[in-house]
Amino acid sequence: MGKDVIIACDFNSKNEVLNFLDKFTEEKPFVKIGMELFYSEGPDIVKEIKKRGHKIFLDLKLCDIPNTVKKSMKVLTELNVDMLNLHAFGTIAMMEAAIEGITHEDGTRPILIAVTLLTSTSEERMKRDLLINEMLPDVVLHYANNAKIAGLDGVVCSPLEAGLVKERCGKDFITVTPGVRFADGKLGDQVRVTTPQRAKELGSDYIVVGRPITESEDPVEAYRRCVREFIG
Ligand code: C5P
Repeated sequence: MGKDVIIACDFNSKNEVLNFLDKFTEEKPFVKIGMELFYSEGPDIVKEIKKRGHKIFLDLKLCDIPNTVKKSMKVLTELNVDMLNLHAFGTIAMMEAAIEGITHEDGTRPILIAVTLLTSTSEERMKRDLLINEMLPDVVLHYANNAKIAGLDGVVCSPLEAGLVKERCGKDFITVTPGVRFADGKLGDQVRVTTPQRAKELGSDYIVVGRPITESEDPVEAYRRCVREFIG
């Protein structure tokens, strides 16, 4: 399993994202396409970026009844993406259905990872709004383990949780970690952050980096710096 830096392409139009990717003349970074871009531009934007030779993490966080998720995952897999995700909250049955949906006839499939609890969910809100009365880290690890049981490849989590997730689910269980900032960079709205180098030490497999690259004066150099620090 390869370690990699994934650029979060949080743009809302085709022009913006393609202008951004045009800057990369020597390398073809792994990119993350989220709901905003996908809903505004549709599947064609995925095909266009794929055609340019990038690997794609399609971050649409599916959560519905198993049959709907299975069929939707099948459609998304036909876009030839490399990584997809869903909410572990949808239960093991939904995650198993998703695996069926993404698996090609020859048995190959894209990487499938789960969102455990959104980082915007505090323990207080989880208890009050969702009536989940366990400790938040226990819920995160329980959901990660459910994803493992269902046959998923890993989870999205903070680099600070990567070690615990691997302890619970095994070292080959992939951790995809946002919340990455350069030591001398801006935090933006992220609170618990780590540097690419620290994420590497903590055992992340993929770091997801958005604004430190997309808002940099020199995005290519910022990307290269991430790669140097994270992969070496
Ligand atoms: O710009 P920045 O580096 O903060 O971007 C991080 C990316 O990772 C964004 O696309 C954000 O939505 C996503 N993300 C996150 N925290 C999570 C899950 C996803 O920052 N817990």
